[in-house]
Amino acid sequence: MKGSVAVNAINWKSFLLPYQQATDELLLKIQHMSVECKQLYMHSPIDSITGRVKQSTSILDKAKRKHYALAEIEDKIEDIAGIRIVCQFVEDIEKVAGLLRNRKDFKVLEERDYITNTKPSGYRSYHLIIEYPLNTAWGVKNVLAEIQIRTIAMNFWATAEHSLRYKYSGNIPDDLQERLTHCAEAAYYLDQEMSTIKEEIRNAQRLNAIRSSLVSDILEKIQSLNFRASIQEKDEIDKEFIAVWNKEDLNALRSFNQKLDHLATSYNI
Ligand code: GTP
Ligand code: MG
Repeated sequence: MKGSVAVNAINWKSFLLPYQQATDELLLKIQHMSVECKQLYMHSPIDSITGRVKQSTSILDKAKRKHYALAEIEDKIEDIAGIRIVCQFVEDIEKVAGLLRNRKDFKVLEERDYITNTKPSGYRSYHLIIEYPLNTAWGVKNVLAEIQIRTIAMNFWATAEHSLRYKYSGNIPDDLQERLTHCAEAAYYLDQEMSTIKEEIRNAQRLNAIRSSLVSDILEKIQSLNFRASIQEKDEIDKEFIAVWNKEDLNALRSFNQKLDHLATSYNI
């Protein structure tokens, strides 16, 4: 026994299995959502995604802290399956929340806006509590999951604070707590400053993405021409590519790419 929860009464392996499946599925679906955004807009509001299943010890700790009976765990602890989406800019958080609200494969039960309503600890993040209908070998099981959406700066702070809180069992020494509060303010300030140069950063990222996809396109075409062109022609293509590459000019790369297209057509590639 730990607290009021009868630990032995749960087969933890089978209890956690649907949560693992839900986490895996949600992770994959949101990853694909991000890839789709990149393809459509050359940019995704999502920087990175992680997922985890809460460990049995943490589930017991939370049940004890909140005075939940064993039978209530499933309905009351919403973050046994947890997804964390990290964004570059504060503005991306609402975009991600919008994409998630529009999905038909789960229902958003609750939204917690700790960005507008910063927690006294300094914690900022946007949470969605969802109900995910999970298809299992035994039929559909509705699983609760928590999706946390936050910026890189918010995540940096929350991860650090979580480690300290864990180390000091919730009683962080006053001086450290004060510095942590300063860090939360600095993270808030960083988010604000980054937002002011968002368009510049985004344009640079878009250009980099266009350039790298153009270069890999060109290299692929040169490769396929290698099988058809004469040795002299291959040599010329290589030299021209190096020259264009050195120019660091997107338009030069574009017209070289078109030239390769014409060449490929003439070789019936
Ligand atoms: P617990 O905070 O886990 O008891 O959950 P809750 O049911 O009170 O929900 P809440 O929305 O307050 O917190 C859900 C999750 O948000 C937590 O499990 C943490 O991952 C995160 N979180 C909430 N508050 C803080 C905080 O002050 N610091 C950090 N680092 N994370 C927090
Ligand atoms: Mg809480």
